[in-house]
Amino acid sequence: MQDVPPDLMHRLRKHQQEHVLHGWDQLEITHRVALVEHLTGIDFEQLAHLYANRDKSQALPPSEQIQPVPMIAGDEISKEATDLGHAALAAGEVAVLLVAGGQGTRLGFDLPKGLFKIGPVSDKSLFEIHADKVFALSRKYGKPVPLLVMTSPVTHEETERFFQEKNYFGLPASQVYFFQQGTMPALTLEGGKLLMEKPGSVFSSPNGHGGTLTALSESGLLDKLAAQGIKHIFYFQVDNPLVRLADPAFLGEHIRVKSQVSSRAIDKAYPKEKMGVLAVVSGKCGIIEYSDMPDELVHATAPDGKLLHRAGSPAIHLFDVGFLKEITQGETRLPFHYARKKVPHMDTTGNMVTPSAENALKFEMFVFDALPMAERWLVVESPREVEFAPVKNATGVDSPETCRQALTNLTADWAKKAGIRVEANVPLEVSPRFAMDAAEFAARVYPGRTITEATFFE
Ligand code: UTP
Repeated sequence: MQDVPPDLMHRLRKHQQEHVLHGWDQLEITHRVALVEHLTGIDFEQLAHLYANRDKSQALPPSEQIQPVPMIAGDEISKEATDLGHAALAAGEVAVLLVAGGQGTRLGFDLPKGLFKIGPVSDKSLFEIHADKVFALSRKYGKPVPLLVMTSPVTHEETERFFQEKNYFGLPASQVYFFQQGTMPALTLEGGKLLMEKPGSVFSSPNGHGGTLTALSESGLLDKLAAQGIKHIFYFQVDNPLVRLADPAFLGEHIRVKSQVSSRAIDKAYPKEKMGVLAVVSGKCGIIEYSDMPDELVHATAPDGKLLHRAGSPAIHLFDVGFLKEITQGETRLPFHYARKKVPHMDTTGNMVTPSAENALKFEMFVFDALPMAERWLVVESPREVEFAPVKNATGVDSPETCRQALTNLTADWAKKAGIRVEANVPLEVSPRFAMDAAEFAARVYPGRTITEATFFE
């Protein structure tokens, strides 16, 4: 018979969380073991500290200390710099990191978001489109580009199974590395108590994309990659099939200026667009969440009439491996952000409760909190239509419909540049294995053709 270890019992009492043992006597032995293991891993001191500070605002400094971020346009990057990017890829110094641990609540899709079919003609999943890019990059440079896939307990099993079933989309299995981010329990808004999702199971959720950095280090993967000679890690999100993976110009400029973290920026579509904004905050590069940006800065304009803070973040970064080691292997920790959410749970009498108002505090780390830790950084601008079309919502902005249209528009643009006429508003798509950019595309097609029906270039 499994008992609660005395040390755990002591900690539960100290933090007034003994209610999680409600119904212990009725629990099967395997559930008791799992519960003890979960509870043992919880840092109650940290939770108590987070709860005690819940009303302290994670305030930004005064607006005068928030300056627009200096940027270089992608097409202004020199050939010499771009060649450094090509050389790093050819030397096998680059890995790409796909974060796919999120719950995808807004999209409302039952499976991990990477399984969502997005190809406007091919119907390929987000995962397949990303894997095809990794395949094309590896083939082009004659060196396998490691694909690091970060999952969470919410997405791990199905993600790994999907890759296995699809034969890793033609990549050698040894080129794909899965690692899991951590989770954080939620606390009740009133009282700071842990919530039970069912008997013997404490509600917790992924600890935010900021969990990537700790997980990368704690899984041992960061050291392993460094030992393999990987120097740069390209970070991107599962929901953006437009992303230009390890674009050599971006990479080359990052190497040339010895940047520790480099970020892509795209023009915000309108002042109140819900995307983080890159800015210089108290002398360091950072990203300010849209909800935290003071109104006067949201609307401020520059002398050229454009928004002063127009540098929207598509969540695309390049990290120097040495920098990642520095910030993950010492005492440094990314801060937790608070979110007030409705969390269904089991009450102390064993009944399920579906709250009608926010009842819980969730805690998440954001990857961009690592940016201000860098002494040397870089921001490279790109046009939105070649870089960013995320699938966030089921309908409306940033939905599957707008994303498929963006993939079609990009293909139409490459086709026109290659001398192909596009005469109908039909779905179009290019496989990354066929071409990764307009120049590669033009080299593979004959001009003069007219497109009148849905076309997949593969
Ligand atoms: P979002 O913040 O858009 O969250 O994640 P989401 O889970 O995809 O969707 P919602 O907010 O629940 O609707 C941006 C990226 O960060 C990853 C996601 O998988 C996505 O690639 N992410 C997010 C993680 O890997 N872990 C997390 O804990 C949160």
